[in-house]
Amino acid sequence: MAKTFKNYINGEWKESSSGETFDNINPANHRQVLGRFQKSNKKDVKEAVAAATAALKSWRSFPAPKRGEILFRVGELLLKNKESLARDMTQEMGKVIGETRGDVQEAIDLTYYTAGEGRRLLGETVPSELPNKFCMSVRMPVGVVSAITPWNFPMAIPSWKLIPALICGNTVVIKPATDTPLSVVNFVKTFEQAGLPPGVLNMVTGSGTEVGTPMIEHDKVNLVSFTGSTDTGAVIASACARNMKQYSLEMGGKNAIIVMDDADLDLAVEGVIFGAFGTTGQRCTACSRVIVHKKIAKKFTNLLLKRTRSLKLGDGLLDKTDVGPLVNESQRTKVHNYVKIGKDEGAKLLTGGKYAGGKNLKDGTFYQPTIFTEVAPKMRIAQEEIFGPVVSIIPCNNFDRAVAIVNDSRFGLSSSIYTRDVNKAFKAMETLDTGITYINASTIGAEIQLPFGGTKGTGNGHREAGTAALEVFSEWKSIYVDYSGKLQKAQIEHE
Ligand code: UN1
Repeated sequence: MAKTFKNYINGEWKESSSGETFDNINPANHRQVLGRFQKSNKKDVKEAVAAATAALKSWRSFPAPKRGEILFRVGELLLKNKESLARDMTQEMGKVIGETRGDVQEAIDLTYYTAGEGRRLLGETVPSELPNKFCMSVRMPVGVVSAITPWNFPMAIPSWKLIPALICGNTVVIKPATDTPLSVVNFVKTFEQAGLPPGVLNMVTGSGTEVGTPMIEHDKVNLVSFTGSTDTGAVIASACARNMKQYSLEMGGKNAIIVMDDADLDLAVEGVIFGAFGTTGQRCTACSRVIVHKKIAKKFTNLLLKRTRSLKLGDGLLDKTDVGPLVNESQRTKVHNYVKIGKDEGAKLLTGGKYAGGKNLKDGTFYQPTIFTEVAPKMRIAQEEIFGPVVSIIPCNNFDRAVAIVNDSRFGLSSSIYTRDVNKAFKAMETLDTGITYINASTIGAEIQLPFGGTKGTGNGHREAGTAALEVFSEWKSIYVDYSGKLQKAQIEHE
C-alpha cells in the first residue's frame, strides 16, 4: 500500500477537504506507485493563502540576516540528504540519477547563494540636491506569493522561487506539478526541519484547474511566479493583469546550437547529445535545433548518429543508463505526434521516431532518441517546442544565415555556437536574440549566480536566480529624510 502524503498549511500536515487523492507513478515502471497525494481544491487554497497572509506581518519584520540563517540550514539539510532526495526524484520524474543529483545540487547552490542576500539586499544611497537631506532606497517584500512549478526540475525550479521569495520577506503558497509532488514535499519538510515559522511556506498539491486557478485569482495573493507552458503563462498573465497582480513567467524554448565549419566537431557532437537527449529532451533549455554549416554537415551528422545509437535507455536509477523515460504517457503521445508531423512535412528521419520497447522498457514511457535531417527552418518541428528527445538538423551556408535561423523563433531562451573564430563568437553573443548564449558549450547547464530566463515568448521580461531574482520578489521603496528643520522643495528650489 503506497504512503499518503498531505498538504502543508500553517505548519501542519493536513488532508484536503476533498477527501480524495491522486497517485504518483514511476515513469520508468508504471506499476510502481510512489505515493498518494492530496487532490486539493479551492477551499484548501483559501486556507493556505489565509495562513500565508497571517504570517506575513511577523516574517517581513524578522531581520533578513536571520531569515538567511534559516535558509542556510535548509541548504545544509539538502546537502546531507542529497542522495535520497535524488533517488526519490529519479523515481517520480524519470531523469537519470546523475541529473537528479544535479537538480538537488542546483537547489543547494541557489539556497547558499541567496541566503547570503539576507546580509546584503543592497539598495542605494544617493546624494540629495538639497542640504541636510538624506536619500536611500530599500527592498521591501511584495506580499503573498503563489508559486506554480513544473515537473522537469522538481526541486531546482521550486528553489528559484521559494528561496528568493523568502529572503525578501514574502510568504508563499506553492503548488507542485502533479507528476512530481514528492520532491516538493521533501523540500517543504526541509524548511520545516530548518525551523521556518508556521504559515511562511504552505504547500497545496493538485491540478492546475482545482488548485492553480484559485492560487492565481485569490485577492490576497500579490505575486504569481510560474514556470510552465506558454499557453498557461498567457492565461496567468491576463488573469493577473485584470486583478493588478504582479507576475513572473518562465515559459517555452526552441533552443539552437550553431555548428560552424571551423568547429571542434567532437566537442559539438557531445554538446548536442547532452543538450538534445539529456533529461530526455525535457528541459526548457534543451537543444532541439542544430544549424550546421553545409561544409561539415555530413561529417557532423555521421558522428552524431553514431553517438546517438550508443545511448542506453533505461531506469534512471541504474548507473549505466544514459536516457530515462518521458515523464508520462501524454508527453510521449505529444512527442510521437511531432515525429509524424516532421515526416509529413518532408523532413528525413535519420534515427529513432518510435516508442522504445523491449524487456526492461515495456512498463515505462520510453522514447527512442530521434534525429531529423534536411529540416527547413519554417517546419513545425523547427518552430514548436516538442519537449522530448527529438532534434532537427538544419543545413546552412554561412554565419549570418545561421543567426537569422536561430532568431526566427517565437521563443528566446538559450542558444549556442561552436566555432574557433573569436570574431564570430563575439558577433553571436551580440546578435543571438536569447536570454542565455553559450560559446563552445551546449544550450543547457545554466549556473544559478547569473540571471535565468529568455526573450520574446519565453518570458515576460523577468529573470530568475542570481541577484535578478530579487527584482521579482521585492519592491523598491525610496526614502527621503529631511533633517534641515524646514520645508525644502526639490526641483522648485532650483537656482
Ligand atoms: C528548465 O529546463 O526549465 O540550464 C531549467 C539548465 C538548468 C535549468 C533548466 N540549470 O539547463
